Amino acid sequence: MSDKPIDELSGVETTGHEWDGIKELNNPLPRWWLWTFYGSIVFALGYTIAYPAWPLISTATGGVLGYSSRANLDESLASARAAQGDLLAQIETRPLADIIADDALARFARAGGRSTFKVYCSQCHGSGAEGAAGYPNLNDDEWIWGGSVEQIYTTIAHGARSTDPETHYNVMPNFGADALLSKDEIDVVARQVASLSGIPGGEATPEGAQLYADNCASCHGEAGQGLAELGGPSLADPIWLYGNSLAAITAQIHAPRHGMMPAWSGKLGDAAIKQLAVYVHGLGGGQ
Ligand code: HEC
Ligand code: HEC
Repeated sequence: MSDKPIDELSGVETTGHEWDGIKELNNPLPRWWLWTFYGSIVFALGYTIAYPAWPLISTATGGVLGYSSRANLDESLASARAAQGDLLAQIETRPLADIIADDALARFARAGGRSTFKVYCSQCHGSGAEGAAGYPNLNDDEWIWGGSVEQIYTTIAHGARSTDPETHYNVMPNFGADALLSKDEIDVVARQVASLSGIPGGEATPEGAQLYADNCASCHGEAGQGLAELGGPSLADPIWLYGNSLAAITAQIHAPRHGMMPAWSGKLGDAAIKQLAVYVHGLGGGQ
């Protein structure tokens, strides 16, 4: 046995150290703990040899296994791209009607369209495409320029009153400012239009009907149902671009406002525009 003194109170060997009568007992760490501790040191050393670890001046040791988290990321990105590549290629080559008919492809296109929409379209149309005054709601089933997926595609690709050579283009005449109609005539035809959807102040009259037929029907349709080919919105339903009041209708006839929708064909690729068209078409109002 050792010649170290034994503490009287606890019966444990002391280390021989003593300060002001306080002795240090010699209670060694348990064996299993100590071996785990040594084991973890050996493991850590091995680990820093196998994997990138030790900092050098401008790089770090590469590790004998050649592992790199960046290469790993590149690899998973490449495989994700390869998986998407096939679907993207199909979206690029197949017609819109086919894409919509194919469930998996349509789901993929909608998801892509939704995220592109958030980036490029939500500023004007709202993040849920709900629109705002002057910016059409894309969830409803009223379409200025047509609601089939092909028509929606054309609107997105070329815009409306944009700088694109194939843009939708049509402008409502300045009936008031250019004195095409008198103030009284504007009042009568505004009431006629307001009556189509039951707006307060609306009144259908034979004069109003005549003024409407002569001046408005060519772009808005005989019954105010709208004409998508000419971008004349429906005037007979409760959905309005510039406000659902007699005052807003009168203002539009007097000095019309014209929405400008940018063309996207130069900025976004064809696949992105197709995905947007499928997404917008699927929002609820697609025809
Ligand atoms: C700078 C604002 C602006 C941005 C950005 C914009 N739009 Fe538009 N968009 C408009 C306006 C204004 C109209 C209405 C044009 C009109 O009055 O003829 C419109 C019309 C449309 C229409 C036709 C609606 C109808 O009833 O026929 C679609 C579809 C559409 N936008 C989709 C998009 C998509 C998709 C994007 C994003 C790639 C987008 N818009 C970005 C302003 C914008
Ligand atoms: C040459 C075509 C054309 C003629 C003619 C025309 N409009 Fe329009 N009108 C339009 C277009 C295009 C718009 C949509 C403007 C836009 O998208 O920004 C419009 C929009 C309107 C709106 C606003 C609709 C909304 O949703 O807010 C009203 C109201 C309207 N027209 C009434 C009339 C009346 C009344 C007449 C006849 C006195 C008339 N328009 C004649 C092309 C025409």
